[in-house]
Amino acid sequence: MDWRVKPLDAILATAEKKSLHRTLGWFQLMLFGIGCVIGTGIFVLTAAGAQKAGPGLMLAFAIAGAICIVAALCYAEIAAMVPVAGSAYTYTYTTMGEFLAWTVGWALILEYAVAASAVSVGWSGYFSGTILNQFLGIQLPPWLAAAPLALGGAPGGFINLPAVAIALLITWLLMIGTTESARVNAVLVLIKVAALTAFVALTLPSSDFDVERFNPFLPAGVFGGFGTGVGAVGAAATIFFAYVGFDAVSTAAEETKNPQRNVPIGLIGSLLFCTVFYILVAAGAIGTIGGQPIMGPNGIPFPAGSEELARQCALPQYAEALVCSNEALAHVLRMIGWSGVGNMIGVAANFALPSVILILLFGQTRIFFVMSRDGLLPEGLSKIHPKWKTPYVVTAITGSLVAVAAAFLPVGQLADIANAGTLYAFMMVAIAVLVLRKTQADRPRSFRTPFIWVVAPLTVAGCVFLFFNLPAAAMLVLPIWGVIGLFVYFAYGYRKSQLARGIVEVVPMDDEEPLTPGV
Ligand code: ALA
Repeated sequence: MDWRVKPLDAILATAEKKSLHRTLGWFQLMLFGIGCVIGTGIFVLTAAGAQKAGPGLMLAFAIAGAICIVAALCYAEIAAMVPVAGSAYTYTYTTMGEFLAWTVGWALILEYAVAASAVSVGWSGYFSGTILNQFLGIQLPPWLAAAPLALGGAPGGFINLPAVAIALLITWLLMIGTTESARVNAVLVLIKVAALTAFVALTLPSSDFDVERFNPFLPAGVFGGFGTGVGAVGAAATIFFAYVGFDAVSTAAEETKNPQRNVPIGLIGSLLFCTVFYILVAAGAIGTIGGQPIMGPNGIPFPAGSEELARQCALPQYAEALVCSNEALAHVLRMIGWSGVGNMIGVAANFALPSVILILLFGQTRIFFVMSRDGLLPEGLSKIHPKWKTPYVVTAITGSLVAVAAAFLPVGQLADIANAGTLYAFMMVAIAVLVLRKTQADRPRSFRTPFIWVVAPLTVAGCVFLFFNLPAAAMLVLPIWGVIGLFVYFAYGYRKSQLARGIVEVVPMDDEEPLTPGV
């Protein structure tokens, strides 16, 4: 088989055309990282994480955070060397060739598009709970508020209308050329961090806090069993979602002053910051209202996002359970007598989550754009709108698909599927860094990952480990999605690829075009 490795120099020609100024310091990188990362994971999936691990959710945050930190170190080196759009897809193209690059690009659809759906559904929970219900006294009919029960939604559910609306709204904003400015991002980060700080400050010292609630700490064990997705590592595989998005920061490496120092501080700093906060938030939630899973008849927690759990949650005795809440953090504060602050946290989530959707959707359209420019997807997709100057065709198609997934699937399942694709991409990036160390040992690197021969294999092992602790259905999605991808590749990209046709020039990017919004 012809592996068609795209020459790195050709890829770098793109970067050279782009006059990047090194203006960012570690603080800006951290702000950007936190802006991408804090979202549905902590605000919503805390409930699903507790259903899987109980109080062991705290351990789950630590495990997932540690794996993201080693992955971030790998991203930092390669992103600084290959600072062009396309992220893991481009890195793989230049190290392992077109076929594997295609598989990564295909998996990134799960990371970005499906994650955008997950965050839309997460936003919907806070919108219905806080804005509609608490403030306006409106209760959406069940069929408009959740996915169908058979897919793990709620009894009477059919379509999650608020999730569809937010996904389409963000799509439209991206189509008309909205990107987020650094200032808006900084304000949103402040709102999110203030919300989490308020949560921690009100729960940890609360009189409702009782250490007895942490007992048993691991009701489903550390390993809940292959394919079950429960236990501390099962929860880690789901809650990994709370860290997804930091890879967007690595694309700013080339715009960073003194990258050898600032890139690792920015990346690791934002991940450490989030990890500590996440663990404190989990402790506050579980310590005050409890977070033990609802157990099935076999002594294993009901799967998060399953029909059985949705039925249990509809019973009156679980009406107030953390594991059943769609707006976990606001719910906890309401339960301990801080309804006003709980509602403020709900408002904060309503403001802040759409920016995470925007970053994810932007990332997705950019990857499709690069893949279609490479000839692996139809050229028509990368058509730029004459007035808006955006790849509007691909944005509209992506946004519509994101809205459909958000309409009919629950947040936990979407997050698990997104995680499966992300873990594959992270693993390939770690391998790509090693390949480049071997094949292009002398090429200058503005950031060198320390102990790469330990860090990269650890990343690969960590990704494989988390992947095999996902629920069986999410694990299966990756190979099935992969097979569909193979058909598409051999039916289209294999013949149409620019590289296959001997075209290796790189189309220069517009100088003004941002690699990532919000920096
Ligand atoms: N990490 C992002 C979130 O939790 C995707 O929403």
